[in-house]
Amino acid sequence: MTPGGPIVRRGRVPAGRFRPPGDKSITHRAYLFGLLAAGETRVRGANPGEDCGRSLAAAAALGASVRREGDDVVLRGAEPGPSAPLADVDCGNSGTTMRLLAGIAAPCPGTTVLAGDASLVRRPMARIVEPLALMGAEIETAPQGRPPLRVRGARLRGIAYDVPVASAQVATCLLLAGLSAEGPTRVTLPGPARDHTERLLPAFGASLEVEPGPGGGRTVAIAQARLKGVAVDVPGDFSAAAFLLAAAAATPGAEVTAVGVSLNPTRTGLLDVIAAMGAAVSVEGRREAAGEPAGDVTVRGPAALEAFDVPPGWVPRLVDEVPAWVVLASAAQGVSRVTGASELRVKESDRIVALARNLARAGIAARELPDGLEVEGGRPRGAMIEAHLDHRVVMAFAALAALADEPTEFDDVSSVATSYPGFWDDLAALGAVVEKGAA
Ligand code: S3P
Repeated sequence: MTPGGPIVRRGRVPAGRFRPPGDKSITHRAYLFGLLAAGETRVRGANPGEDCGRSLAAAAALGASVRREGDDVVLRGAEPGPSAPLADVDCGNSGTTMRLLAGIAAPCPGTTVLAGDASLVRRPMARIVEPLALMGAEIETAPQGRPPLRVRGARLRGIAYDVPVASAQVATCLLLAGLSAEGPTRVTLPGPARDHTERLLPAFGASLEVEPGPGGGRTVAIAQARLKGVAVDVPGDFSAAAFLLAAAAATPGAEVTAVGVSLNPTRTGLLDVIAAMGAAVSVEGRREAAGEPAGDVTVRGPAALEAFDVPPGWVPRLVDEVPAWVVLASAAQGVSRVTGASELRVKESDRIVALARNLARAGIAARELPDGLEVEGGRPRGAMIEAHLDHRVVMAFAALAALADEPTEFDDVSSVATSYPGFWDDLAALGAVVEKGAA
């Protein structure tokens, strides 16, 4: 186990307010759009985790200048535009950094090498490399399209591309490449996917045309453009808040408020699941930040949560929240399922395997499905959790551990710092017992 790693068990009934860290997806975009922009981009409320730190370091390596003013991060975009760095870019655990950066590096003079940690080097990159090659990019990969990516700068031309998997990362990668391509670039998504890029890029001066498509998909067109720096107010990260909101939903009498969280409808499917399972969800203080709806979300735990099968059509709106869903399903009366979620196999870990194995360790009956999970509600017991290099796996089982009387330990908690360095403090402040482990 990690020396000093936390040990978690049930404390008082979860109650209180917390401010989740800034949204990770929006922070990555603010930094990387800022790299491409003329003048200054000021990012307020940036996510403080290591993943976004990778995007910021990459922006600096490709030519942006970066300074901190209080809590703000201020970038001055690369002039006259980004150029390949001298050293390899270490994207760490961050798939978003690698995929978005590939679209930026593709037209940069010189060679940019994008490397990653043991989790990232297992993740599929053919989904970006193939369309970028159609645009004229020259990218070498390890076998089976895996990282590292060796990107040799080339002249790009715009394409019209149907993305096979509805991925916001793929769409964003191609749209960023399209900013430097000759002729328009049109990207068609076959189904729903988060839309932060479409909300934020126009503020940087890009002109985007978005047309709704069948099955909840859309086509986004972009033309060559030079961006202009702006100020971005990053709302709180719903995906980070989800673990503590799920712990509240799973505890009778709990009442927890996530303050200032993004309520982008492409991200908040878990709130619909929480409500469908019988917990009360309310939103106050609605506002807007970075072109996103935001507000303070309160979840109250009912006397008993009802089992619920997540409709496959809801999955794109909660794909990163399936680990948090496990907390709800474990506490519910009956069997709950999520299906239509095979993308979970290629996230920071194979989450279907990682969640099923750890549920068994925690004494909850679970069955792995080819494209999801089936979970029978029960009483979680203390366990030793395997982290699988995946922040969301650790945070899900920490939230579940807060429902168990016996202590839960983790073999490695370092991944939590990739997205939510303050997680353990927030978990403790809301009522869980979080002890520092033995050194
Ligand atoms: C993200 C998009 C999602 C999500 C990931 C972040 C983004 O992945 O799972 O954590 O910032 O665009 P896909 O685009 O592959 O669906």
